[in-house]
Amino acid sequence: MGTYAEQHRNSLSDPEGYWGRQAERVEWDTKPTRVLDRSRDPIFRWFPDGVLNTCHNALDRHVAAGRGEQAALIHHSAITGARETFTYTALRDRVAKLAGALRALGVEAGDRVVIYMPMIPEAVMAMLATARLGAVHSVVFGGFAPAELAVRIDDARPKVVLSASCGLEGQRIIEYKPMLDRALDLAEHKPEACMIVQREQAVADLTEGRDLDFAHAMDEAVPVDPVPVAATDPLYILYTSGTTGKPKGVVRDNGGHAVAMCFAMEEIYDVGPGQVLFTASDVGWVVGHSFIVYGPLLAGATTVLFEGKPVGTPDAGAFWRVVSEHGVRALFTAPTAMRAIRKVDPGGELVGEYDLSSLKTLFLAGERLDPDTYEWAADKLAVPVIDNWWQTETGWPIASNMRGMEPMPVKPGSPTVPVPGYDVRVLDPEGADVPAGSEGAIAIRLPMPPGTLAGIWGDEDRYVRSYLDTYPGFYLTGDGGYIDEDGYVFVMGRTDDVINVAGHRLSTGSMEQVLASHPAVAESAVIGVADALKGQIPRGFVVLKSGVDSSADEVIAELVQAVRDEIGAVAALRRIDVVDALPKTRSGKILRKTMREIADGGQGSVPSTIEDPQVIENLRGVLSGQRES
Ligand code: COA
Ligand code: AMP
Repeated sequence: MGTYAEQHRNSLSDPEGYWGRQAERVEWDTKPTRVLDRSRDPIFRWFPDGVLNTCHNALDRHVAAGRGEQAALIHHSAITGARETFTYTALRDRVAKLAGALRALGVEAGDRVVIYMPMIPEAVMAMLATARLGAVHSVVFGGFAPAELAVRIDDARPKVVLSASCGLEGQRIIEYKPMLDRALDLAEHKPEACMIVQREQAVADLTEGRDLDFAHAMDEAVPVDPVPVAATDPLYILYTSGTTGKPKGVVRDNGGHAVAMCFAMEEIYDVGPGQVLFTASDVGWVVGHSFIVYGPLLAGATTVLFEGKPVGTPDAGAFWRVVSEHGVRALFTAPTAMRAIRKVDPGGELVGEYDLSSLKTLFLAGERLDPDTYEWAADKLAVPVIDNWWQTETGWPIASNMRGMEPMPVKPGSPTVPVPGYDVRVLDPEGADVPAGSEGAIAIRLPMPPGTLAGIWGDEDRYVRSYLDTYPGFYLTGDGGYIDEDGYVFVMGRTDDVINVAGHRLSTGSMEQVLASHPAVAESAVIGVADALKGQIPRGFVVLKSGVDSSADEVIAELVQAVRDEIGAVAALRRIDVVDALPKTRSGKILRKTMREIADGGQGSVPSTIEDPQVIENLRGVLSGQRES
């Protein structure tokens, strides 16, 4: 296949030839005769006449190939102590039955199923069972509040919702079912049924006529076979934060995704059949979709589904325990998790207590990997630490060290080089390439490779407007950075109002909307500021309406609670300051970038168009950490 450089070049000069060969990795019901449909440029479709089923490729195919007795899924709960292993045959049988239960509720190819579940095996089964029917799942992260779940239900319009009685967050039991009930009250769209996994830690009340007990429905279900679908049919919708309050439903197709996952597992992550991948994320995020569920199973590997936290469940050795117990070859998580472990166990004493000889690589993604965290992890684990940069939209890495193809020297602070298929460019505001080493907007020349987003659910215009209009012929990543003279990519951070809190992508715009809807608030701004543990955390600033009776502290407490109630605990907005005014340009645009720069310890570039320079001077004390007296 050639070196990285040859492959990257070929993938760009002849995408049809390159990805046509990669498509051999997948078992097709009908092999595609065409690789790329360019007829609707800038909208591209991979493998337009291919037919396949993703669940068949993830399960049945491996059983047929004689891997039925191999472990497919290991559930490891650091909270309950549970360990449960499902072989490929066992997982296939459970998924086939669950697909039967969904079909009995009327779910057919193309219908949507929303999944709001904690890290239990049924969550993985739910995704695969939906895919088996050719239906479309949308997993909503458990840390989102009912209002956010309701927005997603209204957009995806599911026939069925799958959920559980509760999730376990450290020592706390988070009841999911009351949140689902509340979301269904708020949503205009009413699904026909809900299937609820009853966990022993909390038993949920079921609504007669709408809710079914998962175990009971499974008992009665008749297994079904995979339903072949077009490669271009949607496999899932995953909502992600944009710059506005309304989340974007990123659509992933079946065929391109399966090809990309198989390619990434071998060429990037270097994990193959029978080897164990432990991705410590959540099925509600793209990392969970791609590398807890689909990637490892499509590759015939074993995946670990971990319920717990990097620290406190019960200690900072939780990840190392998983690695040694299950012979993990590659561990994948977010830099925040490493920072959390380091904070508790700076000397890495717990690392030394476990046999980590199976571990070949640590992969980190989801947020910028700061060189300090990189050095610590590389030193303590003594394995290559590989940063990889990507997004919900792309579904798999844009830039990485290609561990399976050609391992390369690591430069701390860089996720290494563009992955084959991605023509990564750094552009100036006019759309011209900047010289090596100069910063600009990171964009990807179209077409992007298979597996990247097919569009925004129900809103093709929004896809074009948000990503493709700024630089014609390019996909705008929303990240800024540079490429050095060796071709290494450095991603410095978002250029929009998206922030990354503990590897969780959040919109400051949606938090501002919550603050602005409080009756005492005249104006508000939310910015992301640097945080030693979580990478970034949100900070809010509000101007109160004149004549507000309540004290500033009361309003602040209500605002913190409102963000928690409306968006979810995961938003983690704890610090809000009441200020006299927000800095603005003369045309009324809030100077969030200047505020961010000052909060991060800089001087802050103050544009000449500022309305009242005194406002920024007044804010400096508050922004740099001290509270206004
Ligand atoms: N269901 C319900 N609530 C959840 C949740 C879930 N699935 N996930 C998080 N929350 C809650 C947390 O309990 C916390 O609530 P609190 O404010 O009442 O304490 C809140 O959301 C914020 O969560 P988080 O930002 O994760 O902070 P934390 O203090 O609980 O944990 C870390 C800190 C570093 C241990 C944790 O963020 C972590 O493991 N990060 C790794 C990042 C990761 O996996 N990213 C996924 C993309 S790769
Ligand atoms: P998400 O869609 O939740 O995966 O978040 C994607 C965003 O996270 C990207 O646009 C980046 O801003 C950031 N991100 C993810 N991985 C990295 C990385 N390795 N380095 C820098 N930023 C990253």
